[in-house]
Amino acid sequence: MRFDVNGRSLELEFDARTSLLDVLREHLKLTGTKKGCNQGACGACTVLVDGERILSCLTLAAQYEGRSITTIEGLASDGALHPLQQTFIEHDGFQCGYCTPGQICSAAGMIGEIERGVPSHVTGDLASPTITLSREELRERMSGNLCRCGAHNGIVDAILEIYGTYKEAAE
Ligand code: FES
Ligand code: FES
Repeated sequence: MRFDVNGRSLELEFDARTSLLDVLREHLKLTGTKKGCNQGACGACTVLVDGERILSCLTLAAQYEGRSITTIEGLASDGALHPLQQTFIEHDGFQCGYCTPGQICSAAGMIGEIERGVPSHVTGDLASPTITLSREELRERMSGNLCRCGAHNGIVDAILEIYGTYKEAAE
């Protein structure tokens, strides 16, 4: 099967029952994407497919043939950290770091959802064409990504730092 992973076009052979997470980690050795629960409960395995966040442990790789997959290794460019990676450092948005790749990929996908006007459980005005990324809205949207170290306050601060216009609206 053919995939585009982090900008590289790849031909791969694997058992049709293999999850996307296992293809990334075991076949491609892209071990930045983490296996936490392996059952869709923690978000550690979050990657982007055509810019949308998905849980790679819950999906068969075969479902994504021909799609463009981005992992944490693909977010940095030309040796420079992605802005989210930089602000996670500056705001202590991690401790052990195990959840961090999933948190960052999830945040990158989340902002696309905000821009497309996709509502969450706590969005107040469903008729509004724009959604304000308040702290509550951000916490709800990132609630699928658990941090066992309890770094959630730093994670929220780091994400708000990047999406400054949303931060202004939130305060
Ligand atoms: Fe996929 Fe936990 S490893 S959600
Ligand atoms: Fe340790 Fe989040 S930094 S699980």
